[in-house]
Amino acid sequence: MLSSTSSDHVSDNEQSLSKEDARRASRVFDVESVRQDFPILSRLVHGKPLVYLDNAATTQKPKVVIDALVDYYTSYNANVHRGAHFLATEATEAFEQARTTVANFINTAKPSELIWTKGCTEGLNLIAYGWGDLFISPGDIILVSELEHHANIVPWQLLAKRRDARVLPIALNDEGVIDLAALDKLIVLHGKSIKAISISHVSNALGSINPVDKIVERAKSIDAISIVDGAQAVAHLDVDVQALGCDFYLFSGHKLFGPTGTGALYGREEILDRMQPFQAGGEMIEQVSFSGTTFNTLPFKFEAGTPHIEGVIGFGKAVEYFSQFDHQAREQYESELLQYLISESTRIEGVRQIGPSDNNAGVFSFLLEGCHPSDVGMLLDEQGIAIRTGHHCAQPLMSYLDVPGTARASLAFYNNRDDVDRFVSALKQAKSLFA
Ligand code: ALA
Repeated sequence: MLSSTSSDHVSDNEQSLSKEDARRASRVFDVESVRQDFPILSRLVHGKPLVYLDNAATTQKPKVVIDALVDYYTSYNANVHRGAHFLATEATEAFEQARTTVANFINTAKPSELIWTKGCTEGLNLIAYGWGDLFISPGDIILVSELEHHANIVPWQLLAKRRDARVLPIALNDEGVIDLAALDKLIVLHGKSIKAISISHVSNALGSINPVDKIVERAKSIDAISIVDGAQAVAHLDVDVQALGCDFYLFSGHKLFGPTGTGALYGREEILDRMQPFQAGGEMIEQVSFSGTTFNTLPFKFEAGTPHIEGVIGFGKAVEYFSQFDHQAREQYESELLQYLISESTRIEGVRQIGPSDNNAGVFSFLLEGCHPSDVGMLLDEQGIAIRTGHHCAQPLMSYLDVPGTARASLAFYNNRDDVDRFVSALKQAKSLFA
């Protein structure tokens, strides 16, 4: 926490947060009250109230996060870990407080195991270069799955090219979830040539919740490292990286109600220590000379250059805000809302869900017979309803499922039944236009 002497404005903010805590602690999960915290949800789009169902692409931001960004620039904008002045101390304290908040959120053993990135894409590239270039040898295998986002495929392909290794996909079961039996077959076939298993906790395109605990166990059994991309998981599921036992876990701030351009990479200290820096520059060094350079301690060894200071502070506020809600009540609310969305939509003739109906974290991916997904998206947009259409940066998955793409509605905890009703009625209208 910041001391009141060094930062009065932040203390005020903290005070209002604790009042907010008290208000929330005394009530059951109340979505209408949550919605009041998100200013954008009251705007009109094409003259109609916004229905925001594109949360898997990015989530909206509560006022407390927006205020934190303005507060930083209004009151204590300064570079971190460098200045010898008052504002620099305030900024550094807020920046490191955010690290502790986000690290606690996923239960890392130490805050220094949490590295700031600009998102999961940068985190995955960091591992592929920082770990892969040192520890992958010709003939080695990196396993991903058929449902991965391109960000969890292409960095491994580039690594495989650099190191003469191979990237192989784990197949899915009929529900669109990573198939453990298929993983077991790959392990029997390739054994300890498999050096890394990198998979999504939740599929961005289908919402499938993958059995990451079992996959991490399998990775350990062959001494492979495990990397879990939690971009789509952290806004829906509780994550405890120590209980999970993975080597790396990544997520993005903007998919967790925080600013864009922020991300967090958890790595076990022992493995981060053995890695080489990904990017080089200021702050990541201990000593620089023309006879050689030594590197800073964790986490700074992986944080070259001036970071996204206000973004990180906003990310911390987003996690503080989100953590105030009772997780069980929130998860139950979300899961009931998803079931309502799925059952009401699939009642419409010609609507086919792609992906699991249970074991799904907030995503309804679908096709409407006779109507291209992009036309569905356009017609819904005319009604003020935001969804995503296309391949969702998962082209191998679309080929695997043999679909050109899908339309995807994705939920956050601020969506309500009215959002679902408006979506379903717009879908019926779209169907009638193409019937
Ligand atoms: N990965 C984000 C999505 O699924 C952008 O939409």
